Amino acid sequence: MSKLAPSILAADTMHMGMAARRIVDSGADYVHFDVMDGVFVPNISFGPALLKDMKAEIDLFFDVHLMLIDPLPYVDVFSKAGAHGVTVHVEAAHFAESIARIHALGLKAGASLRPGTPASALQEILHQLDLVLVMTVEPGFGGQTLNPAMYDKIRELRAMGFAGEIEVDGGITMDNAPMLADAGADTLVMGTTFFQAPDPALLVRQVHAL
Ligand code: DX5
Ligand code: ZN
Repeated sequence: MSKLAPSILAADTMHMGMAARRIVDSGADYVHFDVMDGVFVPNISFGPALLKDMKAEIDLFFDVHLMLIDPLPYVDVFSKAGAHGVTVHVEAAHFAESIARIHALGLKAGASLRPGTPASALQEILHQLDLVLVMTVEPGFGGQTLNPAMYDKIRELRAMGFAGEIEVDGGITMDNAPMLADAGADTLVMGTTFFQAPDPALLVRQVHAL
């Protein structure tokens, strides 16, 4: 069974309450919450205030993906706002310190790899991670096309002995989802695919069936 983490980056920002409701009603597993600083990636998204307000409305696992040049000071900020899991990029400043801080706060710790960063960049820290987030597009924007070279990166992480959760993010559709699951991915982030689905509950059932 694969899990589905809808990314609210693809939601209509004028109707975030409806987006949250759509996620809950669909039976999806997590809320994928993309945070961008305009420096690590060329886009700016949401901050902790939105997370806190969404948390008050819905009872789901908040999977926070920090695309920040220096995530360390924000690990505590997003923990306080209600994150259950926090993922930081191996390419960012204070990466190892951020992972240690996420653990110290009792949250699920994830490390993300840009498409150009090899799986081997996580060699030293792999045994400390609860989750690896393999970016299947260059982070920053929704609606891009998945890079098929990332199937091998997922397999490589498994070959390195990683038994934790592998999450994939960017350009995921029901056409490539079976290949991602076969390669060893556990959790599929879907932005555009989820928010454009005519029947989101059916999409969740299809992902759960993989
Ligand atoms: C991209 C974000 C993704 C994005 C995926 O930087 O990390 O979570 O929302 O969107 P889709 O599924 O539309 O590619
Ligand atoms: Zn993301």
